[in-house]
Amino acid sequence: MPADAPQHADAFVFFGATGDLAYKKIFPSLLSLVARGRLAIPVIGVAKAGWTLDQLKARAKDSIAHAKIGDDASLTKLLALLRYVDGDYGDAATFAAIKRELGGAKRPTHYLAIPPVLFGKVVEQLAAAGLVEGARVVIEKPFGRDLESARALNKIVLSHFAEDAIFRIDHYLGKRPVHNMLFARFANSILEPLWNREHVESVQITMAESFGVEGRGSFYEEAGAIRDVVQNHMLQVISNLAMDPPARIDSDSIRDEKVKVLKATKALDPSKVIRGQFNGYRNEKGVAPNSTVETFAALRLEIDSWRWFGVPFYIRVGKMLPVTCTEAMVRFRSPPKLFTSYATTENYLRIRISPNVQIAWGVNAIEPDDETKARQAELLSTSHPHGHEVDAYERLLDDAMSGDATNFAREDHVEEAWRIVDPILDNAEPAIPYAPGSWGPADPDGRVTPPEGWDDPSVTA
Ligand code: BG6
Repeated sequence: MPADAPQHADAFVFFGATGDLAYKKIFPSLLSLVARGRLAIPVIGVAKAGWTLDQLKARAKDSIAHAKIGDDASLTKLLALLRYVDGDYGDAATFAAIKRELGGAKRPTHYLAIPPVLFGKVVEQLAAAGLVEGARVVIEKPFGRDLESARALNKIVLSHFAEDAIFRIDHYLGKRPVHNMLFARFANSILEPLWNREHVESVQITMAESFGVEGRGSFYEEAGAIRDVVQNHMLQVISNLAMDPPARIDSDSIRDEKVKVLKATKALDPSKVIRGQFNGYRNEKGVAPNSTVETFAALRLEIDSWRWFGVPFYIRVGKMLPVTCTEAMVRFRSPPKLFTSYATTENYLRIRISPNVQIAWGVNAIEPDDETKARQAELLSTSHPHGHEVDAYERLLDDAMSGDATNFAREDHVEEAWRIVDPILDNAEPAIPYAPGSWGPADPDGRVTPPEGWDDPSVTA
């Protein structure tokens, strides 16, 4: 290991230990890390719940039983690593107690799995308690709620931590197929000559979910689809699809190229967006009866770079759509129509991120039983079952504790992403009702529909 390589954390502190995220993702991830021999440091849960350590251990056990993972030996090890501090995040005594639990730890990783309004407060308290030196901080999404608030939060966090000690989570970056897009693009010479405005007609990404807000109504009311998944997950996917090859594969070289994509992307024009709300959303717990929050958004982006100028990028995200699937499709320009009597279609490359992982080429082929007809065939270059989402968290927590920031959003990326979506936040266009199980509101003037239409993913079991 080079002398200047980042050192592994010697303690893990997580705020929000009694919360939903801890239950659903953090405990199972920690258990898997223990099972893989990647975690053997004190794990200090912090919350204001009036709990004891035994109650936290019971919660961890329950979470792991619910996730149906791990073995008894790993569970016993994890429980032995657990500590608990109960207290208010605004109270210096809470942070003094954390300090005591940390003992002689010199490189703690603090993970803020708490509501965004508390991020700044906890960072300030960590600093006041002297818990910042040598430490790293992992911050959940959403990082801010618009450009201004993201800048303000960055300012607070950066006044106490160096950028390379800040890990802004976007769990999409922990998904292997998202990261592996870079491998598919840059480890294969056949793609690069085609990957530009000369050959690509349009790019579309669909992130469809067949479920609603699942009890997270009050969170969703503050977010809406654009803040929840476009500003972060979708713009990260676009960055991976559109970036230039990095000079090296270290964290900053990769992130430099991603940021360049966003810098070249125009701020969104409200007339190139459709917002929708599924019928029944207003009856969800925590949702206002007259809510105008969007549960669906379709939009068209323009990346004015040398590589992409003039190629439209479309994003469509939504809850209560017909399937749960995230996939990108890069459509190539038509060749001259030499075979005019055949119904041919554009070639494409389809990259599916979930629920299963696929990369497939769409090509035209002659129908074997009828030579007068063409059909669209897919050449599947890879297809395998999807890794469970816990893997994304497990990977990201491991990376953060090891000091590898490649799969985290850097300050400039987060701010550029907010700059792009800022003009379409908060009712820039009315949210049009749509029926659950449909593909969202109609687009009568085609403002956010790709030239050859949306490809609606179908998912077979
Ligand atoms: C989260 C959003 O960030 O991502 C959720 O808050 C969304 O609304 C989820 O459902 C989707 O993640 P995944 O990994 O299930 O595709």
